[in-house]
Amino acid sequence: MFSEIGMFTRRETADRIRRKLITVNGVTVKKPDEKVNPEKDEIRLNGEVVKYKKYAYILVNKPNGVVSATEDGRDKTVVDLLPPEMKKLGLFPCGRLDKDTVGLVILTNDGVSAHNNLSPKRHVEKKYYFETADEYFDEDITAIENGLTLADGYTTKPCKIEREGKNSGYITLTEGKYHEIKRLFGARKNKITYLKRISFSKITLGDLKEGDWRYLTDDEEFIFTNK
Ligand code: URA
Repeated sequence: MFSEIGMFTRRETADRIRRKLITVNGVTVKKPDEKVNPEKDEIRLNGEVVKYKKYAYILVNKPNGVVSATEDGRDKTVVDLLPPEMKKLGLFPCGRLDKDTVGLVILTNDGVSAHNNLSPKRHVEKKYYFETADEYFDEDITAIENGLTLADGYTTKPCKIEREGKNSGYITLTEGKYHEIKRLFGARKNKITYLKRISFSKITLGDLKEGDWRYLTDDEEFIFTNK
């Protein structure tokens, strides 16, 4: 059914059908429940062919208190930030941010690309802005950058820190262990008080507002699907 192929949101579909803007194989669509095979039929919006995409790639700016999951009995999830009709696309977050971490999360239904981006072998860089409770020093930077052994015995991979202030900076990781940044600073007797992911590979959050979402651009989609 036209309304179920996920090309446009339900509201967009209704609006565009009402304005007679959509055609399938040259015939104007009159109702949202008309049959369509998006992989075979030629769909045009306002005369322009619209390419059907098998998968969706979405970037959200996760606010504090929202969980990186598809469903949660108690808390709002990153999928709940999208319009309700997008639920049926089967989107899930590619990697997790802690409930109190804000910033960039990519949602997709492309399991292979998500898996590739999360694979430790691919070394995808994730950059975060952080603030700490106490001042941190050059020795802390060196120890964290070189990789240190956490309480559970895991030795972290090398990473990069760029100082901003006495208590703030940017850290770029190529892996994503549970609470990794908090544990890295914890191992140096410090505490992360604010954490925001600002980029994932070459995909950046930009000025997207907290709680908002957007589709990845074609270039970003290329980056995400060619890992
Ligand atoms: N490291 C953390 O400690 N928390 C996150 O959410 C991401 C990386």
